[in-house]
Amino acid sequence: MDQWLLIFEFINFFCGCNLNFQYFLCSKLYRVQAKVLQDKEEKVTVEDSFQPKSFPDDEGKGNSGELLESSSSSLLERWTIKVEQSVNILLTESVVKILDTLYNDRYYARFFVLETIARVPYFAFVSVLHLYESIGWWRKADYLQVHFAESWNEMHHLLIMEELGGNALWFDRFLAQHIAVFYYFMIVFMYILSPRMAYHFSECVEKHAFTTYDKFVMVQGDELKKLPAPEVAVKYYMEGNLYLFDEFQTDRAPQSRRPKIENLYDVFINIRDDEAEHCKTMKACQTPGNLRSPHSC
Ligand SMILES: [Fe+2]
Ligand SMILES: [Fe+2]
Repeated sequence: MDQWLLIFEFINFFCGCNLNFQYFLCSKLYRVQAKVLQDKEEKVTVEDSFQPKSFPDDEGKGNSGELLESSSSSLLERWTIKVEQSVNILLTESVVKILDTLYNDRYYARFFVLETIARVPYFAFVSVLHLYESIGWWRKADYLQVHFAESWNEMHHLLIMEELGGNALWFDRFLAQHIAVFYYFMIVFMYILSPRMAYHFSECVEKHAFTTYDKFVMVQGDELKKLPAPEVAVKYYMEGNLYLFDEFQTDRAPQSRRPKIENLYDVFINIRDDEAEHCKTMKACQTPGNLRSPHSC
């Protein structure tokens, strides 16, 4: 096992990602024993690092780096964060420009593509965490729980968009599904190299999702209030087992958020609010520490 650690140290040094493995591979891991680290690490505070009002204005400015920058004493670390965030912002803006060109006012098709892509990172995080746990490098049980709950939530957003007809065209399904496959392997690779960068990238995507839905409900609100809610939305938000719904509300106590779904407007308001929760969690995860599931606090 020592040779793997040497290889990772070499990659870590070579790529200038000196914090990537500091993130998870703390000194305990050099003993190569799977341990429940979460009980011994500092808890990541989700709420403290979140500024919801900054979403529309700071998109593209890498706001989430401020917290990290202020606590960083290393020039190399700050430089690495800047590079990581610049790459992420460039990638996100490029994809957004493509979506703007292709979809313009085809709202539900755009949301279908967005939701197909948006759940991929959580599946990628769970894949890598599961792999690391299987080979005994670390155990992050609460991260697994929260990321699965986020993936479950995104899947229901996708089901809602499908019920609204967003997947009607072959081209939209083809585009979304092929981007999703490429995106999965990209995030797996990024997460292995730098969990912080992967979480920041996902934060950029979630910010875009939040602002997209926020603008949509502002512009189309009156029309949406006249339309019925899709059945899958009513079941998910009001009738199902809400354990997993509570699981991704990482700054709220379980059972403290119980949406009322009476029309399509309520559905999109809650989807938007879900995206805000994801964004908070992705931002908090960039700070080394330990994210806690609401059910284990
Ligand atoms: Fe979503
Ligand atoms: Fe999301």
